Amino acid sequence: MTKTILLTGGAGYIGSHTYVALVEAGYDVVILDDFSNAREDVPERLEMITGKPVACHRGDLLDPAVLDTVFNSHKIDAVVHFAAKKAVGESTRMPLEYIEVNCTGLVALLKRMREAGCFRLVFSSSATVYGEPKVVPIPEDAERFHTSPYAYTKLMGEQILEQLGASDDRWAFGVLRYFNPVGAHTSGQIGEDPNGIPNNLMPYIAKVAVGELPALNVFGDDYDTPDGTGLRDYIHVEDLARAHVLSLDALLERDEGHVLNIGTGQAYSVLEMLRAYERACGKPLPYVIAPRRSGDVPVLLARVDRAAEVIGFRAEYGLETMCASSWAWISRLRNSVPA
Ligand code: WQD
Repeated sequence: MTKTILLTGGAGYIGSHTYVALVEAGYDVVILDDFSNAREDVPERLEMITGKPVACHRGDLLDPAVLDTVFNSHKIDAVVHFAAKKAVGESTRMPLEYIEVNCTGLVALLKRMREAGCFRLVFSSSATVYGEPKVVPIPEDAERFHTSPYAYTKLMGEQILEQLGASDDRWAFGVLRYFNPVGAHTSGQIGEDPNGIPNNLMPYIAKVAVGELPALNVFGDDYDTPDGTGLRDYIHVEDLARAHVLSLDALLERDEGHVLNIGTGQAYSVLEMLRAYERACGKPLPYVIAPRRSGDVPVLLARVDRAAEVIGFRAEYGLETMCASSWAWISRLRNSVPA
């Protein structure tokens, strides 16, 4: 019997790539998204990629009528919960809204799942729950603490699931701590396209490459790293999507819950990323050294052996593919000629 998976936030960057991976893995998939951070044309793009009609509900997770419509229209076997606010800087300016969407929204979803007899959930967590890690590469049992309201909501989300799982053994959770998702789908049909000035490195470089921003600001070159700039464990979004399929397989086939880092185990610096993007787009990209960004840590690098042991996940794409897929997506989207 084909399993049906609900993707909250499924029209977003990671959600849309996971949608494709799940359909290709044989799951039936339903999207719930309020499109507050998603392109309106994502459902039709997903239909182009998969060749199948897309079941998509538009609505707010916090609206009980919306959840009723979704759970009354489909027999949901498991949920992948992407719908959340995720900008670290913005969260420091609006902590209440982050707590309301990311924490209250999670509780509302879990209560409606329980009412529907659905007890399997994959939770989008983040390496940000590690704060400034004391041990690098970071193991899953490293100390957790929050360095922003956004990180607080992810840590709180994990603790809500821990409390719920301890109280009722019908539940099983896949908690995936993403490191730095980048890149775009190889079809060139979906990718990251943040509104306004991007907070994150790769979408910012992409906008420099298409001429929408003048130069990259490198936030500090005086860190204790080989070239002085920040080191991150970037992971291709299609690898990340595949990790969700493997997490769901473990939850549904083996009733196994898990808490896993999803990264590559390889870190690159800001300047290494910039150089790789220059090779992808075939032109030099201007940058200036700027002051450090508050809240940044020098290194975020994942221990990745548990993901391999528990769900058989290993990242496959390297930095060149991450940059080439991003450039193919952004240049196609802006109708400029890809390199
Ligand atoms: C990467 C590196 C910056 C922009 C955040 C969240 C994390 C996750 C991913 C949601 C750092 C440098 C960046 C720029 C720069 N989000 N940089 N100039 O901060 O590691 O992680 O996004 O889950 O939770 O914390 O990602 O891409 O913002 O920064 O020099 O214009 O690039 O200093 O070293 P980050 P990032």
